[in-house]
Amino acid sequence: MGQHVQLAAAVLLVFLLTARWYSDDLRELVEDGPRVGHLLLQTVYGLVWRPSVDVRAGDYGVGYPLAANLSACHPSFTDANRPTNCCPLRRDADQRVIDFELPKLVQSPLRVRRAAHLLNNEYIAKYQRAVAIMKSLPSDHPHSFFRQANNHCLYCTGSYDQVNSSFLFKIHRSWLFFPWHRAFLFFHERILGKLIGDDTFALPYWNWDNPDGMVMPEFVNEGALNNEQRDYTHLPSNVADLNYHVGEIRRQPEQQVAVNLAFMYHQMVSGAKKPDLFLGCKLTAGPEGACNGPGTIEGAPHNTLHTWVGSGLNPERENMGAFYSAARDPIFYPHHANIDRLWEVWRKLRESAVPDFTESAWLDSSFTFYDENLRFVRIKVRDCLDIAKLGYAYQNIDLPWLQARPKPAVSPEIARNILKKKEAMDRLLTPANLIREAAFFGNQERALESTVRVKLHRSRRSRSQAEKADEEEALVVYGIRVKGDTYAKFDVFVNLVADEETTGPLAREFAGTFVNMPRGARRVPPESSQSDVLMKKTLKLGISELLEDLEADQDDTVWVSLVPRGGTGVNITVEGVRIEFVR
Ligand code: C2O
Repeated sequence: MGQHVQLAAAVLLVFLLTARWYSDDLRELVEDGPRVGHLLLQTVYGLVWRPSVDVRAGDYGVGYPLAANLSACHPSFTDANRPTNCCPLRRDADQRVIDFELPKLVQSPLRVRRAAHLLNNEYIAKYQRAVAIMKSLPSDHPHSFFRQANNHCLYCTGSYDQVNSSFLFKIHRSWLFFPWHRAFLFFHERILGKLIGDDTFALPYWNWDNPDGMVMPEFVNEGALNNEQRDYTHLPSNVADLNYHVGEIRRQPEQQVAVNLAFMYHQMVSGAKKPDLFLGCKLTAGPEGACNGPGTIEGAPHNTLHTWVGSGLNPERENMGAFYSAARDPIFYPHHANIDRLWEVWRKLRESAVPDFTESAWLDSSFTFYDENLRFVRIKVRDCLDIAKLGYAYQNIDLPWLQARPKPAVSPEIARNILKKKEAMDRLLTPANLIREAAFFGNQERALESTVRVKLHRSRRSRSQAEKADEEEALVVYGIRVKGDTYAKFDVFVNLVADEETTGPLAREFAGTFVNMPRGARRVPPESSQSDVLMKKTLKLGISELLEDLEADQDDTVWVSLVPRGGTGVNITVEGVRIEFVR
């Protein structure tokens, strides 16, 4: 009898989740789904997914690598209280896990990932066919589009706990961002190839850092690659805003291209001179190892384009605008192919042969995926570092942003005078210990309802080029909290005197951006104190080159402005800003 109840509940759940997946109208789900789903999930969760004690031995704690506790996959709820369960019905923990081995390249020709805007019709048709087949597989098949998309949901909404800990395993906003997504795409691409019997198949990349690719590729709006849950005002031929915010500034296409290139220069070159700045903070196991600081590219264009593509009509800009649903949109994959390519480009620009980090906490962190032969594979970060060994390459394309180094919006001399006068005025109007001079806001976090300006003292000035190469001067905005983990954004400027509303990445004063992309899902039961640690985010921005261009390298102070965007500042608080030297 009990068996039957379990079975019936499981069948009903599969039906609900599947129906939900195939429904095109998210609104409908918001209204109808939650109550029944909630109840069912909790019942079935208790019956079927009874968490068992993890038996895999391993080191854990601060400084140790992360691994997922596969036996503790649990559902989540979105902020709109819709149930989200990305866990497979057949428990991962019951599958045999094998360790990843590099593909034998004699048998497997090199896959060349091409720029989406340069694909010919034949290639597009092949890609469409592969995705169509993937979408036609039953939803419990590990190769189905449904399960592929859920891979992302599993690792982004905290479906898994970490091994030997009840702390969640998440792969955004840290040094796991690039390697996890590389591994995911690696398997996804090989599965697509297998489905069409073509072992040279490679995902195209959406080349949004190149003027010719800044429009969404036409073919993703057709056939199996189409998705209804996109912002229709951003469909071709609208040029993407790589530093997009929902307040939206509509620019002429040529102007938008110029802004994008300057922005790319900043995110790839001047703001990203060290691995910590480009790849993100060093997340290690357990609560004490938690950190929450994305690298330049993850913040934007990665997050910003997710938001730009996602539909403004949905509560969290699903699909692309929230992590739990992002990979349900087929554009996710060419978008991430470009992210992955930029990691490779950045490494080549640095001319570095060594891994970006040498810590075992990074190299030995591991993830699991089904491969094209349905084996359940554990892959480590160290396995993902050499794309030639993984058997793929990127079609070479110009990097026009390399020549797009921004110029000061206001001549540095004039700016310095204006800042001095402003400062004198401030002193007249407010007590000497005025708060805006304190980089550390004290016990009180500052809300970013409007622009916050702080003056920072620099402990070291006029350093030699060798010193700068050794240690990059970085602005650190710390203790950032976003209420409710909603979408939020602010830009950061140094010595800004021009109009903050209209000044952006084209100006050298622009030092970077903070973009919070919502996960769109919470854990069941609700996350308690552990989320607090994770909610506090850090933004680190390299400024050595910027200070030179602003002729401010000899100054013993800099003015930093935090400018909220798109009306989201009411949800953001910040503890302080400081200068750090990053090796
Ligand atoms: Cu895991 Cu583009 O996000």
